[in-house]
Amino acid sequence: MYVCSCFGITEQQVKKHAEDGACTPRQIASACKAGTDCGSCVRRIQAILGRGACPRRELADQGKPVLAGLDELEEAA
Ligand code: FES
Repeated sequence: MYVCSCFGITEQQVKKHAEDGACTPRQIASACKAGTDCGSCVRRIQAILGRGACPRRELADQGKPVLAGLDELEEAA
């Protein structure tokens, strides 16, 4: 099933990019262009990312530097 029909990007592809470190719809867009045409898939992409595909997502959403955020996570662990 396509997540982004403009570019023919599937949920699997979005998940793969998320595993590779794309934690926000913007990063998914720069990885595979999904979301950069009509934009109607951005919410679907967000939902996929929101299912915990990427543990760094929350930090990125908060605008924190991801590496600094990882340090915090390690300290908390
Ligand atoms: S469906 Fe993804 S940009 Fe149009």
